[in-house]
Amino acid sequence: MAERRCIGVILGSIREGRINDRVAFWTIRQLEYHGFATRVIDPADPALLPVQIGNTAAVERLRKRMANLDGFVIVTPEYNHAEPGWLKTLIDSVVGEWWARPVGLVGYGGISGGLRALEALRIILAELHTVTLRDTVSFASPWRRFDEMGHMTDPDDAAAAEAAMAIFAHRLDWWVEALAHARHARPYHPEGEERIT
Ligand SMILES: Cc1cc2nc3c(=O)[nH]c(=O)nc-3n(C[C@H](O)[C@H](O)[C@H](O)COP(=O)(O)O)c2cc1C
Repeated sequence: MAERRCIGVILGSIREGRINDRVAFWTIRQLEYHGFATRVIDPADPALLPVQIGNTAAVERLRKRMANLDGFVIVTPEYNHAEPGWLKTLIDSVVGEWWARPVGLVGYGGISGGLRALEALRIILAELHTVTLRDTVSFASPWRRFDEMGHMTDPDDAAAAEAAMAIFAHRLDWWVEALAHARHARPYHPEGEERIT
């Protein structure tokens, strides 16, 4: 049996009582349903929290958790029309682990469903040599849609979200495979060139 592709699921919020867990639980179940293995990368994990102040041991742990993954899915809220600062700090703390990886974006928030945060992330993630999926999944007012365990409470709502996720997962799989082949075929970074960001 082919080895399952492993996706790092990165949470965007560290707020106490965050909604993030519900949307992340749903996303993880969906990705696993579509055949991916997942690894959670949670900035609120006590082992990773000191990344926020540049603690070198915590950054090294983050680097290890992000190493050798086939791609990433970021599940984030929108704060003031952008991604939360905690997520930006986490993203900025590693370099090579991002290179030539696909990144899918799942957002949530008020009426906007987090879409402005997702679009803001594309600029940052391009700088880190990633490919962001064109297709996103987004939720307006997720506190009305998900229970504590990340199950959607309305069947029609769930069906619409699952349909969006089916396309998202297909595209993610396509990019995972394409970029894995490309990374194997030749090094992403020019040989002999000093490695900078
Ligand atoms: C300071 C602040 C700013 C916010 N700005 C936005 C916003 O610009 N757009 C939006 O859709 N929701 C906004 N929200 C709503 C959050 O996306 C919402 O509270 C979400 O649940 C936060 O995620 P979390 O509970 O996982 O931390 C904001 C919330 C706060 C506290």
